[in-house]
Amino acid sequence: MKTAVFSARRYDKSMLAHANADAGHELRFFEDRLSLATASLAEGCEAVCVFVNDSVDAEVLAALARQGIRLVATRSTGYNQIDVAAAARHGIAVVRVTDYSPYSVAEFAVGLLLAVNRKIARASARTRDGNFDLEGLMGFDLHGKTVGVIGTGKIGAIFARIMAGFGCTMLGHDPYRNPAFEEGGGRYVAVDELLARSDVVSLHCPLTDATRYIINAGNLARAKRGSILVNTSRGGLVDTDAAIAALKSGKLGGLAIDVYEQEANLFFQDLSSTIICDDVIQRLVSFPNVIVTGHQAFFTVEAIGQIMQTTIDSLSAFERGEPLLNRVPAP
Ligand code: NAI
Repeated sequence: MKTAVFSARRYDKSMLAHANADAGHELRFFEDRLSLATASLAEGCEAVCVFVNDSVDAEVLAALARQGIRLVATRSTGYNQIDVAAAARHGIAVVRVTDYSPYSVAEFAVGLLLAVNRKIARASARTRDGNFDLEGLMGFDLHGKTVGVIGTGKIGAIFARIMAGFGCTMLGHDPYRNPAFEEGGGRYVAVDELLARSDVVSLHCPLTDATRYIINAGNLARAKRGSILVNTSRGGLVDTDAAIAALKSGKLGGLAIDVYEQEANLFFQDLSSTIICDDVIQRLVSFPNVIVTGHQAFFTVEAIGQIMQTTIDSLSAFERGEPLLNRVPAP
């Protein structure tokens, strides 16, 4: 099937091409993000393959539908960048990748937590500069601390299991209980109680209308003083201005983020030779107790291999008219 692949970096091209070796779909790779301005690149294709920061809103979907696109396949679990209702109105099916190494993200969240708590990135930068002073590098033991997990699905439950191994008490908040979380000793509480009691809070829920700014000025005020917030889920879960205010006041003792509200214009590209005009991200990276990575939690050999294989399998199933196992239902 002719498919326009947007936001295609070098690793996307090689690993998607590898997964496609037997299936033989005609893949047209574009480094550009999908937007109204670039939608015409998909002319002549039946499907588009997108990533987290492509814009697949109602206008773009209308343009794609006019060109005969019938399938949107996102190479991600989250699909908040796609207007699924608009896609349904245009008769465009949406598929995602529901199942790929949740360990990739859970393990990265633990890595971010350790890095920000124990100041590992700062320490490394210092020793490269010949500075072996420990001043400012003190962290705290995770053993015996309370860790709150918002969203105890696949990734959140694995993160909780790893943190239980550190000797932490686990609290969770999720509208649906996951037996795996409770079997591991986790206990469900309301979000305010979770924030008030947790030394570390890690976000693992999807970005939806209900979860946008689930961390905000109101509930940060009730958070435990000096707690660390980790976000490997979606930037829109956190009101960044509120987080900055909480860092300034000391309410938040640390912030570790792999995702950022305004990441679409920044992430997945090398901007090191340009002037970055986003003052908020510049403020964030200036804090000694903040670590920012560019949406790389999923980026392991295992996860990427599974993402690409599932994407190719979805294209093949769609072409053959078979049921789509990873279809995103219309709301
Ligand atoms: P999942 O669907 O297994 O789990 C999500 C959990 O969030 C579910 O248990 C759901 O009930 C819960 N949830 C929904 N609304 C909630 C609310 N209002 N409050 C608390 N919990 C709520 O999804 P999975 O695979 O664990 O992924 C979680 C998120 O991680 C994805 O939605 C995506 O945004 C993010 N992600 C980030 C990656 C990265 O590279 N940084 C890569 C993959 C996923």
